This record gives sequence, C-alpha cells and structure tokens, in this order.
Amino acid sequence: MPAQDLDQIVNLCKRRGFVYPSGEIYGGFRSSYDYGPLGSLMLRNVKDAWVRTMVQQRDDVVLIDAAILGSPQVFEASGHLSNFSDPLVDCTVCKRRFRQDQLDDRDCPQSKKGCAFTDARAFNLMFKTQAGPIEGEGATVYMRPETAQGMFVNFANVLQTSRKKPPFGIAQVGKSFRNEITPGNFIFRTREFEQMELEFFVPPSESAQWYDYWCKSRLQWYIDYGIPAEMLRIREHAKDELSHYSAGTSDIEFKFPWGWGELEGIAQRTDYDLKQHAEHSRQKLEYFDQATNERYVPYVVEPAAGANRTMAAFLLAAYDEDVVNDEPRTVLRLHPRLAPFQIAVLPLSKKDTLMPLAKKIHATLGARYMCDFDETQAIGRRYRRQDEIGTPFCVTVDFDSLEDDSVTIRERDTTAQSRVKIDSLLAELSQRLGY
Ligand code: GAP
Repeated sequence: MPAQDLDQIVNLCKRRGFVYPSGEIYGGFRSSYDYGPLGSLMLRNVKDAWVRTMVQQRDDVVLIDAAILGSPQVFEASGHLSNFSDPLVDCTVCKRRFRQDQLDDRDCPQSKKGCAFTDARAFNLMFKTQAGPIEGEGATVYMRPETAQGMFVNFANVLQTSRKKPPFGIAQVGKSFRNEITPGNFIFRTREFEQMELEFFVPPSESAQWYDYWCKSRLQWYIDYGIPAEMLRIREHAKDELSHYSAGTSDIEFKFPWGWGELEGIAQRTDYDLKQHAEHSRQKLEYFDQATNERYVPYVVEPAAGANRTMAAFLLAAYDEDVVNDEPRTVLRLHPRLAPFQIAVLPLSKKDTLMPLAKKIHATLGARYMCDFDETQAIGRRYRRQDEIGTPFCVTVDFDSLEDDSVTIRERDTTAQSRVKIDSLLAELSQRLGY
C-alpha cells in the first residue's frame, strides 16, 4: 500500500540518504533541501525519464539549456514583472504573513484569538539580484521563475538551426526560483526547484487537438513509470485560476497524503509569449510556411512538470510495507528506470577470495547500469537495505560462484532467488529490467 503519511517518506529519505534539509548543521535553511547520494541519482533518473519520452523518443522536439539569470526586459515582456505575484496579507496580531487564497483557521496559531488581516497586496514571486559590482537599476537581474522563457527567447535561433517546423517543440530541464510565501510539504513546494518543460509550437488551428494530445500522453507517462491510475487525476482550471498567459490549463494531480496536489500543468499559452517578445525586442518571431506561402505566429501548448514534486509522488506511490519470513520489511517498488540503483552486487563474505570476482562483476554491470556494491553486514540485512532504497535486483556472489561460475539473482518485489551463469548475467538482468 502506498505511503499514507508524508513522514514515512521524509524519514526514509533522511535515513537512507535521499534528501536532507539544506544546511542542517546550522538548523536547516528555509524549506531548502539537499539531495544525497541516493536522491541525486533518483532525481536525475526522473529527469532522464522525462527527456527520454519527450525528446529522445520523438523526432519533433529538441532540447535546450538556457541561462538562469535573465534581464528585466525578458520578464517585462513575459508579463512576470507585473503579473507574477500572489496576494499577500499581513496579520497585525501575530505578525505572520499569509497567501490570501490559502488562508484558513489552520494556518494561523493566533486565529482563535482573532487575527486582523491587512488588505491583500500583490507580492512578486521573482528573486531579484544584481549582476556586477555596481548597484543600481542597470545591474538588476532576475532568477528565472520558469524555464519557459528560455524557449521563447530562443524560438528564432532554434527555428533557424534545427530545421524544424510547426508542430515542433523545444524542451528544457532546469532550476527555477520563486519566492514562495508558503513553501512546505517537504519537497512539494520549495523556493528553488527543477522544472521539466516543453513549449510545443503549433499552427493556431491545431492548438485544441494538441492540448488534448498532451493532456492524455502526459497522464500516461506517470502511469507508465509506476503511479497507479487511481492516484492521478486531471483537473481543469477555473477561469479565475488561470495564469496571465493562459487561455486554458489542466493540471495533472496526484493524491498526496494531504490531498490532491499538482504535478504538472498543461497550458494553452496561445501566441501570447511570442507576440510579447516580438513586440518588446522588435524581432520577427513567426513561422513562414513555404508550402502554403503563409506567415503566422505559432500557438503554444505547454506541458510543464516539476521534477522534485514528481520524485516525491513516485516515492509515495512506490512505498510499501509487507512481511517476509515473518519479518516486516519496507520496500520501495520503484520502476527500474527511476530506482537510484538498478542492481546491487553483494559478495557473501569480505574475504579476499570473493572480492576480485565480485568487483569484476560490479565493473561489468556498472558499465551499463548504476550498481551498488555492499560487503557489510549479514546478507539478510543487506537485502532489506536494498529493498528499502528500491533496488530491483541483488546479485550475490558466494563461495560456490568460484566453482560453478554462477551467482544468485534476488528480486526485490517477490524476494525470489535464482542461480544464473556469470557469462549470461548481463543479458539476464537486461531482460528482467526491460532495457
Ligand atoms: N511554465 C509554466 C509554469 O511554470 P507552473 O504550474 O507554475 O507552470 C510548473 O509550474 C510545475 O513546476 C508545477 O506543476 C510544479 O510541478 C512545479 N513547481 C512550480 N512551483 C514549484 C515550487 N515552488 N516548488 C516545487 N515545484 C514547483
């Protein structure tokens, strides 16, 4: 059964080295998190899985990696300087600040005594800093609040250099920054996070059909990587929820322990961004179709996901507790592509006689998969540790291996064990892992 309580995952993440509070030795730093040896591998796997589906397995999407720091002109044109804000209210009694749209009794410890709120004011969520040593207006730069603007400002560059034509997409994975008023729920809402975004440029008349296409195919992606369909839903935004650039948005939501929460938004951005940047930069941002002699500004359909949130959802959905040989165990039933390690090589003993063979097997498998190597503790405890971090297969090297050139493969989900010849080990694991 998936985790019912966020703490089950928070504790596992800390205990096993997935995620630590940032700067913990100084008491932690404002809802920031560091990804440890296992979390950094898993987060990378989530992003790789997205790139594989959205770029590698298609012929109509290219990948870019744009700068994080942006000039005010970019965000003036995009509308983020004037519109990217949340309504902020101050309590004159408890002196705390709240997002007006998230306000309820539960939020305020003083509310029973009666909080007195100021009128709401727009609080811009962008982080502002300065470039170079001289302060002043000309030095102001912003840390991007979404990766999307990198795709819009490079639209003409990509069009010229990639030989693509609409419908085609520009994808990007990278950090974004928002000065959230109420970060929280572990890695669900933080001020620094990673996005996986696609801007898909289409002829205006095809916008509705591509919106439908991306809603369906993005939902399927989460199911393909192991989230049960009943833990996912699509929710269409009401008109008053829409971002300043959107003519229609649907969220893919996951059933978090505290309720439904957004993993990804699929937005119809129309020609809003290209037109804004064309106007502000005085550059032509359009497509000329030589076949029809038609010149037009493409419409954009944007599936925009968060890597950290998605990782949390995969962890929550994969979490399970069962009983093996009368002993309770915790197991992460992660998709093999998402698990930090696909394989763990476990020599039964630390003795010199087994080590060279075990290391050789680790090197061979490690050329293709991320492989752990663990020679500590009793073998049963090592299996339990690998179960808890989601490793789909353990390979145990024992003294018989020296005689029969075979090793034991032990499966995470069933705990079943089978003996396999070393020279067919890679092929066997590849078949079982599915790649
Ligand atoms: N370019 C469109 C855009 O940025 P968004 O819905 O604001 O749309 C897309 O963000 C995704 O980024 C969200 O669905 C969420 O997964 C992730 N995200 C947004 N703010 C976040 C935050 N403060 N912490 C973690 N993830 C966040």
